[in-house]
Amino acid sequence: MIIPPETSSDVSLLMVVVFLSIQGCHSAPDPKQRDQMLKQERSERLGGRMELSEDEQRVDVMLQRLKIKEMSTSPFPPAKHFFTVRHLIQNSPVFKLIQKMPKGAALHLHNSAMVSVDWLVMNATYRPNCYICFTWGNSVNFIFSMTTPFPRWGCSLWKRLDVLRAGLSDVPKFDESLMRNLTLFTEDPETSYPTQDVVWERFETVFYAVNGLITYAPVLKDHIYQGLKELYDDNIQYVELRIGQSKAYELDWSTHDRAWTIELFRNITENFRANHPEFVGSRVILSAHRSSGVSQVKQAVQEAVEMQRRFPDIVAGFDLVGREDKGGTIWYFRDALSLPSKLGTKLPFFFHAGETNLDGTDVDRNVLDALLFNTSRIGHGFALVHHPLARQLSRTTRVPLEICPISNQVLKLVSDLRNHPAAVLMSDGHPMVVSSDDPSLFGTTGLSYDFYQAFVGIGGLDANLATLKELAINSIRYSSLSTQLQDKAMAVWLENWNKFIAENSET
Ligand SMILES: *[C@@H]1O[C@H](CO)[C@@H](O)[C@H](O)[C@H]1NC(C)=O
Ligand SMILES: *[C@@H]1O[C@H](CO)[C@@H](O)[C@H](O)[C@H]1NC(C)=O
Ligand SMILES: *[C@@H]1O[C@H](CO)[C@@H](O)[C@H](O)[C@H]1NC(C)=O
Ligand SMILES: *[C@@H]1O[C@H](CO)[C@@H](O)[C@H](O)[C@H]1NC(C)=O
Ligand SMILES: [Zn+2]
Repeated sequence: MIIPPETSSDVSLLMVVVFLSIQGCHSAPDPKQRDQMLKQERSERLGGRMELSEDEQRVDVMLQRLKIKEMSTSPFPPAKHFFTVRHLIQNSPVFKLIQKMPKGAALHLHNSAMVSVDWLVMNATYRPNCYICFTWGNSVNFIFSMTTPFPRWGCSLWKRLDVLRAGLSDVPKFDESLMRNLTLFTEDPETSYPTQDVVWERFETVFYAVNGLITYAPVLKDHIYQGLKELYDDNIQYVELRIGQSKAYELDWSTHDRAWTIELFRNITENFRANHPEFVGSRVILSAHRSSGVSQVKQAVQEAVEMQRRFPDIVAGFDLVGREDKGGTIWYFRDALSLPSKLGTKLPFFFHAGETNLDGTDVDRNVLDALLFNTSRIGHGFALVHHPLARQLSRTTRVPLEICPISNQVLKLVSDLRNHPAAVLMSDGHPMVVSSDDPSLFGTTGLSYDFYQAFVGIGGLDANLATLKELAINSIRYSSLSTQLQDKAMAVWLENWNKFIAENSET
């Protein structure tokens, strides 16, 4: 019972007494009131206001049945480190259904970690003129070159890979070791990565190892195409890719400028679309590393403004990437980030912010600062729930969070995904999308693994088909596409969705 604040305490006490005596001191709470409250909570959840058709309800019932079964299994996959349960998830009927589901758009993905390591090793490293060196830190570097390159500090002499392989007795074993070099995936994550520092160091090492491979122009071309294909095969129609500052190079080590790379993205996307008419396209978010200085970031912002002016259809905006705990904060870069408004132009921001559990530090304030800089979305926003004002602002201005559950678990912000802060936001209908961040590093492809974790782990039994449907719709509505292109993407998605429902509501 709710006591109006203006009533005096005597009167309210009287009301309580009257209320209790009517109810009878020992009777249970009113079941109708309870139902009403539960209904209200349900309606506030993500997807809570979505009407499901009869066919959708049938799929929902089946899905809930499968999920209940899954929740009683041991180990319960979302509670464990993803690397140790990936094989269980792959066999999960819920996961298999999610794979078939049209998921809309992938909005938080880094270009350098979007293609499976299998392709990187079996395709990219098997090309002619590929050289390798072995670093002192148990990693590798690659470079394509016409002649043997000059040795690099901290690395063995360069060896041409085809020559090296020809002298090996067990090439598959060697190739497997190269794959291990290009991913964080391992069977014993708890011992390999005891702390955030250790796992982040390996993370940066992998990016460095992969860089020489994928910035080689001929590889880059096929790499983009392969990345789009892996997403498409997971029933994704559209992608927004963060791309870093590395320049593409040719065999003679001449390099291409940023405009060339963006044009390449446009060409490859068009090429892919010609072969896959249901694919809507891709846009890029140019990003600078947080370890850069203010003047470097200023330059990167300036370049992003310029590129957006030249390629408005392909450049979506700008972001700061890299480990937040160690790099400059958004506030630290405020002069550089104010440049567009000083120049009187608009550059949309898509900031990584709040990918941290350093509560109360300067880093932790990135979520609020991202919003003050009018960010279009918040990458991760893991720390958002600690900031009531930022949370409210994000909600009322419809600035969604890009939730990447597996990334957060592997990088050690949370171990049991049922405890992910997005669970709070999901039950509150907070704007969000689900994405996969760095699939090749985490041993995933597409979005299905992260959707599974969001649906089964973070969402719990309260998440249902309507939750999944809202997440897919969100991914299109919160994309940087124009309203017109969003409508087009929605139409394609809806057709695929209805097909998916029809195919799965029969049994
Ligand atoms: C790599 O993939 C490309 C594009 O799919 C293909 O044309 C090429 O033959 C492949 N190369 C190798 C070495 O497998
Ligand atoms: C990287 O590959 C090399 C060469 O096979 C191997 O010796 C090394 O152990 C690998 N490193 C990792 C981290 O797997
Ligand atoms: C992109 O395609 C256009 C038109 O075919 C071509 O002129 C241009 O050189 C291509 N650019 C790149 C980087 O591939
Ligand atoms: C953010 O948007 C508000 C309202 O449109 C505007 O007044 C403000 O100048 C913008 N801030 C920045 C840093 O662009
Ligand atoms: Zn990211």
